[in-house]
Amino acid sequence: MRTYTENELADAVIARMDKVKDPRFKQILTGLVRHLHAFAREVELTEEEWFEGIKFLTAVGQKCDDKRQEFILLSDILGLSSLVDMINHRLPDGATASTVLGPFFVHGAPEIENGGDMAAGCEGEPTYVSGRVLSVEGKPLAGALLDLWQSNSEGSYDVQLADTGGKQLRAKLRADAEGRFRFRTILPTSYPVPTDGPVGLVLDRMGRHPMRPAHLHFMVSAPGYETLVTHLFVKGDPYLESDVVFGVKDTLIVDFKRNASQAEAQKVGLTAPFHSASYDFVLRPAGEAKQHAARAASDAV
Ligand code: BEZ
Ligand code: FE
Repeated sequence: MRTYTENELADAVIARMDKVKDPRFKQILTGLVRHLHAFAREVELTEEEWFEGIKFLTAVGQKCDDKRQEFILLSDILGLSSLVDMINHRLPDGATASTVLGPFFVHGAPEIENGGDMAAGCEGEPTYVSGRVLSVEGKPLAGALLDLWQSNSEGSYDVQLADTGGKQLRAKLRADAEGRFRFRTILPTSYPVPTDGPVGLVLDRMGRHPMRPAHLHFMVSAPGYETLVTHLFVKGDPYLESDVVFGVKDTLIVDFKRNASQAEAQKVGLTAPFHSASYDFVLRPAGEAKQHAARAASDAV
């Protein structure tokens, strides 16, 4: 038996892992225990507060099901998801910035032809998006796959609605031989993350709004390149400076220009007025992110 001081206890817990074989597991658990203990010491956590925390985490778990991931939402609003994204996607020059995946990605979106309509009858302001998929050397990535998803004009994703009867505002399309893509949709709007759970209560107590600025989600992939998960944000949105999940990057803000010309609208299969935006996605070779992260980690030592 021995008696530990407050300052010794973390090391005592860590020492009990001396037989752990997996070095990465040991590193992660060591850091976690160290920081948890330091946190409790720093704020002089009371027993009531500790139990409140346990009750909160229990409620977060109870809110999760196959459609709702309250833990991811918690990580998002604390900036942890964005931090993990930053650590894992340190950029070489010229590659497009990534941002959070979010909880609304769904596998198996319907395929549409290049130039097709992903809004399929949804109400909203007609919008045309086009661009290219390139390598960091500027090579067009022929046949790159784009997986797209967005909320409707009221700010809801299909998985949040009971009555969509299928996938809505989701599509997959392939870029052409020159890496060019184009599609029609509706202009995305800003929307709140779900607030009907424990994370909503915490946001409220923090005095924060729950809004995300208007955006379109993209997952862009091509063989031999790292898959890019990102958004394009609508320039001028009032929430760009205060995105509830800290996902905005300046290079991802795009002008969705309003165009009143009927002739221009007809050229892209829309009616005026419509919005149009153009963006080139630049992918980096597969494996480069890990090398980059490893280099940055060793530079930091
Ligand atoms: C989203 O953009 O879909 C999203 C991201 C993080 C939390 C909630 C929603
Ligand atoms: Fe979103």
